[in-house]
Amino acid sequence: MNRMLNKKSIRDISPKGKRVLVRCDFNVPLDGSTITDDKRITEALPTVRYLMEQGGRVILCSHLGRPKGQVNPKYSLAPVAARLSELLGCEVPLSADIIGEDAHRLADSLKDGQVMLLENVRFDPREEKNDPDFAKELASLADCYVDDAFGSCHRAPCSTEGVTKYPSPCAAGYLIGKELAVMGKALENADRPFVAVLGGAKIEDKLNVINNLLEKVDTLIIGGGMAFTFLKAKGYEIGKSLLDETKIDYCKDMMAKAAEKGVQLLLPVDTVCIKDFPNPIDAPVDTVTVDADAIPADMEGCD
Ligand code: 3PG
Repeated sequence: MNRMLNKKSIRDISPKGKRVLVRCDFNVPLDGSTITDDKRITEALPTVRYLMEQGGRVILCSHLGRPKGQVNPKYSLAPVAARLSELLGCEVPLSADIIGEDAHRLADSLKDGQVMLLENVRFDPREEKNDPDFAKELASLADCYVDDAFGSCHRAPCSTEGVTKYPSPCAAGYLIGKELAVMGKALENADRPFVAVLGGAKIEDKLNVINNLLEKVDTLIIGGGMAFTFLKAKGYEIGKSLLDETKIDYCKDMMAKAAEKGVQLLLPVDTVCIKDFPNPIDAPVDTVTVDADAIPADMEGCD
């Protein structure tokens, strides 16, 4: 037990000879089938390597994108299996299904220290509904479970929540452990001044985070896609930039709360704008940098 985190850690399980189901967040950015940033894969390696070295039979699983319960080759984890094979220096076979015959065949054929990957768990509509039967089937592939999906463990589908009711024991992987240790210290015993930087496209996922951070930080810096909804809430025109209309009032409330608490809430003062997203993503594109309150109507603020 990791006392500081009050969570079972990967070191509390004895993986030798056991099938270990590991939930990762391999939701990597793709350009077609090319991974444009493999950070989420490399971040999972300490857990995967440790389990392999300890003689575990490692069954990795993850979601990729939002295929909405349909099998869609666009969201196959095949590019991830290929990248994992390169990084680990051994073949990482990808099952053709999640809990079907092929997944069981591969899982049963694993030898100590070997690894495989299940196909995208979101190809089954029951995953996101946290369906107990699907969770039980998923769990039946393994003898124990490790959650290392830091980027998605705030959600409660079968592969992060439902599944934990079945295999025993369940533990947190190294990535979750690392992130919790860093955040735990920052949130409970922060050095001052305490500055938090938030980015990303989705405000919805960060509602409670922003609200809670305003109780703790001295300065909150908001960047990335979600900054534009804040700029809109300030009354700026944001052109074709990313906007979550349903969260404009929320952004106003957060800015008011920050002012009331004396927390500096900083938004971008300028932004790089483009007319259209390049295709492919790394193709040259014309950009202009404008003040945050002067985004042209036919342009999109990027970052
Ligand atoms: C992410 O990229 O934010 C995580 O992988 C979660 O993905 P989701 O928002 O589609 O659940």
